[in-house]
Amino acid sequence: MAIVLFMLAVVFIGVAKNVAEASSRPNVLFLVVDDLRPKLGCYGETNMVTPNIDQLAAKSVKFEHAYVQQAVCSPSRTSFLTGRRPDTTRIFDLVHYFRNVSGNFTTLPEHFKNNGYVTQSVGKIFHPGSASGYTDDYPYSWTYPAYHATQNYSSKHCKGVDGKLYKDWAVCPVDLKTLHGGSLPDTENTDFTIEFLKNRSMDHKPFFIGMGYHKPHLPFEYPMEYLDLYPMSKIHLAPNPYYPPWLPEVAWSSYGELKNYEDIRALNISGPFSLVPLHYQYKLRQSYSAAASYTDAQVGRVLQALDQYGLADNTIITFHGDHGWQLGDHGEWCKHTNFDIATRIPMFVHVPGVTTKKAPPGENFPFHDALDKTLKFQPENLELGLVSDALVEAVDLYATVSELAGVDVPSTCPDNPFNIAFCTEGASLVPIIKNLTMTSANSDITGRLTSWKPAVFSQYPRERIAPGAPETPIMGYTMRTYEHRYTEWIAYNHTTFTADWSKVYARELYTYSSDPDEDVNVAEVPAFQDLTKSLSKQLRAGWRDALPVPAL
Ligand SMILES: *[C@@H]1O[C@H](CO)[C@@H](O)[C@H](O)[C@H]1NC(C)=O
Ligand SMILES: *[C@@H]1O[C@H](CO)[C@@H](O)[C@H](O)[C@H]1NC(C)=O
Ligand SMILES: *[C@@H]1O[C@H](CO)[C@@H](O)[C@H](O)[C@H]1NC(C)=O
Ligand SMILES: *[C@@H]1O[C@H](CO)[C@@H](O)[C@H](O)[C@H]1NC(C)=O
Ligand SMILES: *[C@@H]1O[C@H](CO)[C@@H](O)[C@H](O)[C@H]1NC(C)=O
Ligand SMILES: *[C@@H]1O[C@H](CO)[C@@H](O)[C@H](O)[C@H]1NC(C)=O
Ligand SMILES: *[C@@H]1O[C@H](CO)[C@@H](O)[C@H](O)[C@H]1NC(C)=O
Repeated sequence: MAIVLFMLAVVFIGVAKNVAEASSRPNVLFLVVDDLRPKLGCYGETNMVTPNIDQLAAKSVKFEHAYVQQAVCSPSRTSFLTGRRPDTTRIFDLVHYFRNVSGNFTTLPEHFKNNGYVTQSVGKIFHPGSASGYTDDYPYSWTYPAYHATQNYSSKHCKGVDGKLYKDWAVCPVDLKTLHGGSLPDTENTDFTIEFLKNRSMDHKPFFIGMGYHKPHLPFEYPMEYLDLYPMSKIHLAPNPYYPPWLPEVAWSSYGELKNYEDIRALNISGPFSLVPLHYQYKLRQSYSAAASYTDAQVGRVLQALDQYGLADNTIITFHGDHGWQLGDHGEWCKHTNFDIATRIPMFVHVPGVTTKKAPPGENFPFHDALDKTLKFQPENLELGLVSDALVEAVDLYATVSELAGVDVPSTCPDNPFNIAFCTEGASLVPIIKNLTMTSANSDITGRLTSWKPAVFSQYPRERIAPGAPETPIMGYTMRTYEHRYTEWIAYNHTTFTADWSKVYARELYTYSSDPDEDVNVAEVPAFQDLTKSLSKQLRAGWRDALPVPAL
């Protein structure tokens, strides 16, 4: 109870950080799921079996319009972990390490470590390898070296049509009775996290644990039982499984990541624009769902451990995907584009005793495996969560988590903040959380928030104007408002890190009221030129111009 009051004090009065000892600070469980788009029960996908994640969402503030800053792993992760955008981290690929190319920035876990927290990375938080200095940014960000499962996904585990085992198959349900010693990397990572939580329950130092799940990233390697949740007769294709007729070629990605898998190669997909054969689209969609349910079960195990070790009442939980994923939408696969389906993520924030609108009926039953259909979390209960329609960004998490935990909140970075270790290009979402929780507790609150960011921003680089064209460095800058998405693909210099807004190769404009799936690019349609002009001005003014007006 004291803890709940403490957190209320942090959230609603904002003075706790001056008085609180580090030992009374809340813990942070920072959950990140690789390649997870909002294909979850709690985002209205009623065919999905994701009861654990849904149940967490029902006790959180869930963001309906959350976006990443670049739709690929390391650029996105570097952005939300440093609280800065790709133009400032200068990380646009999976190779470079921000500390070597942009600045010695204080990361979110590093900030907590500096504030007396034990910080631990499990699985994929930073993009591993050279992109995080071959150490997952240890020892800067973490108290202990990052933990990775002893197994990986690059061994021969996938059954081919001939019954033999192969590696690098996209569709790879596995029989754990005969493989992997009965486990999988995400299961092993979860085991470690559970042991870490058990250890932490025995001392008084607060912790920040980043738990990063690999699935549903390719290969779709998951225990085969999860296929039972998704009979083929219930699998549908994307609503728009074709190349959008007015899409400029520079916006297109030929989904090379998927084409690297042997089962996809065997389909002989020719040229950069060809579609995955329909029968295999069904299989990929089925396995993405099954892999997401497998991850859901692992998330459930962690949440159950938090309860079991008495940590749940004092642990803030954030949950988000590192970017979306195209499952044949626009004929595309993987991420690597500026479409909503690639940039939009599931994202929610749970603060014990604060974000729970009403106890879900399931509150007291133990978290369970997605395969246990008898305990399926009922869709009607999903209404219980607090939902925000505000446009928010993954880059906002840094300031949000800091403010919720009562550690210093970084102020907004000035231009060119390369020599400034501690600042952010996002905004704390606490005013939104406060607005929603106060509204439900007391409808008479004055100073209610009426607006937030009018637009959110992402970007994606390209090497050429079209497949096969000469090499031309390009950056696609995109802006999402409530009504529209507007994108300009412009010249970009990777030596000077500068964009040339006078050299526009292509533009895109989508209007959600008539075109919710972004199928019809109207940027070059004469009737839309006034709108295009004003959106172009807003895009060029950028994120700084779209910062929320401080709450009353
Ligand atoms: C980066 O910052 C850390 C922590 O402030 C400091 O220990 C380290 O020496 C810095 N590294 C460089 C290369 O400036
Ligand atoms: C970063 O820079 C350091 C110092 O120059 C170098 O030793 C290291 O290899 C670089 N790391 C990466 C991943 O580029
Ligand atoms: C994956 O694990 C196998 C078997 O332990 C090992 O041979 C291989 O080098 C590992 N691959 C990677 C990329 O770590
Ligand atoms: C838990 O504590 C034990 C005993 O100190 C230690 O051996 C083990 O490595 C710890 N595990 C984790 C995941 O922190
Ligand atoms: C793909 O091409 C190979 C080699 O030409 C051929 O043996 C195979 O049958 C083709 N597969 C499909 C699905 O068309
Ligand atoms: C604040 O709460 C009110 C009432 O629920 C809601 O109408 C408004 O949109 C919220 N403001 C923001 C910025 O979320
Ligand atoms: C980028 O800028 C550098 C330095 O001004 C220049 O030498 C180079 O030619 C430019 N590259 C492109 C692709 O314009």
